[in-house]
Amino acid sequence: MKIRKAIIPAAGFGTRFLPATKSLPKEMLAVIDRPIIQYGVEEAVTAGIDKIAVITSRGKSIMEDHFDASPELEQFLEEKKKADLLQEVRRVSNLADFCFIRQKKALGLGHAILMGREYIGREPFAVLLPDDIFVCPSRPCIGQLMDTFEQYQASVIVLGRVDKEGTKKYGIIKPKKISERVFKVEDMVEKPGPEKAFSDLGIIGRYVFTPEIFAAIEKTPPDHRGEIQITDAIKKLTDEQAVYGYLFEGKRYDAGNKMGQLEAIVEIALKHPEFGRPMKDLLLRLSREIS
Ligand code: UTP
Repeated sequence: MKIRKAIIPAAGFGTRFLPATKSLPKEMLAVIDRPIIQYGVEEAVTAGIDKIAVITSRGKSIMEDHFDASPELEQFLEEKKKADLLQEVRRVSNLADFCFIRQKKALGLGHAILMGREYIGREPFAVLLPDDIFVCPSRPCIGQLMDTFEQYQASVIVLGRVDKEGTKKYGIIKPKKISERVFKVEDMVEKPGPEKAFSDLGIIGRYVFTPEIFAAIEKTPPDHRGEIQITDAIKKLTDEQAVYGYLFEGKRYDAGNKMGQLEAIVEIALKHPEFGRPMKDLLLRLSREIS
């Protein structure tokens, strides 16, 4: 079955970016010229997805405005003969068919995904965490997972190699190697630390799920912080059906924390047609000044 729909959970508080995120959603912070969430949306669209449900919460409705038409702005740009900007503004509002669903309380990522159950129905679907930005030269990260889904007809989670510090930050899988990049998930543990980690394969922010994940989330109890973790639900799913991990090809930026966002801005700017050269000059000058 073809994957047509995606869920983008964006209802969290973004506490790591406070005070910037006091009234501005973390997902609307800009990396160069577009908000973080737009990178995830464009990734999904490039991979062939055209229906996207964004899970949102109180005070975050500017995400809806961003992907909606803006007649006054469009008229203004038309009058000022700013054709390029007008085209770009229209492109953003025509990216996909959007639906916005409220999560009334931030009860965790698993709970946020469960909010999309009615929207998804009985078909496989993609999940993209907006604060992970992926730059993949050949195929978008979520597309790589969709291809793996096509092959195995089972849920697929994206894997990245993590260092010792990473084992304290991510869910880590116990892998059974199937091919160069595909692993069967035998077990997993959330943030085990280096001593208890099964491997160096960490779960990051992209997933393709069979619809059975919703029943698994429902059966998953909240953790000690009262949040339903998607890792716990995936572990439950592995009791019933195979789940695969895919070691993606490309680069990932954790734009959900300050340093990761700075790294994303600098590296993405270096590859940008307009800012590549000036950014390189700036970095060379700064490196001379600080060395
Ligand atoms: P994060 O844990 O990175 O986001 O969740 P957060 O909670 O907003 O950020 P911090 O940790 O406080 O700084 C990953 C994604 O899942 C969404 C977030 O909005 C983010 O995009 N999320 C998280 C929800 O939609 N609902 C939740 O209950 C929790």
